Amino acid sequence: MDDAAALHAIFSDPRPMRYWSTLAHESLAQTEEWLAGMMATDPASSDDFILEADGEVVGKLGCWRLPEVGYLLNPAAWGRGFASEAMAAFIAHRRRSGSRELTADTDPRNGASIRLLQRHGFVETGRARNSWLIGGQWFDSIYWRVDL
Ligand SMILES: CC(C)(COP(=O)(O)OP(=O)(O)OC[C@H]1O[C@@H](n2cnc3c(N)ncnc32)[C@H](O)[C@@H]1OP(=O)(O)O)[C@@H](O)C(=O)NCCC(=O)NCCS
Repeated sequence: MDDAAALHAIFSDPRPMRYWSTLAHESLAQTEEWLAGMMATDPASSDDFILEADGEVVGKLGCWRLPEVGYLLNPAAWGRGFASEAMAAFIAHRRRSGSRELTADTDPRNGASIRLLQRHGFVETGRARNSWLIGGQWFDSIYWRVDL
């Protein structure tokens, strides 16, 4: 729970939350609830990580619900290869855990996320219009999968 404040700085920032599955968090309590939920999940169905660089929390990457991977980095840490490094480590970790696949769901406009998935071998498996209704706005999806 010591990471809640640093995570809240990310989850309350509209830039990284632009294509997230919820609106930006409005209170620290909301992020604490998210973090408590993350820690309470059954490891058989969930495998999620907080990312640190030089001892500072920079984001999260992993599966809130296996096998779907999700990630979010502090904008101050974007473009430095951290997400790619974390994804490579996570894929190796899931392979060692005997997992056969990972999936992902991105907004078609989310270039950084799409590039990250393609770089790590994810292939497109489908598309959907109006798959998410968030804050009164509809968002579309591209679905992805990688075999491990
Ligand atoms: C997606 C995200 C985690 C990428 O983090 P990052 O640390 O900047 O990514 P990296 O530096 O590891 O770069 C990964 C790849 O994306 C590319 N990339 C980075 N920003 C980009 C952008 N704005 N547009 C297109 N490609 C981009 C990089 O060049 C790199 O490609 P390469 O491997 O071919 O060089 C980060 O942008 C983020 O937190 N976004 C908001 C949250 C989000 O949308 N999550 C996904 C929900 S599905």
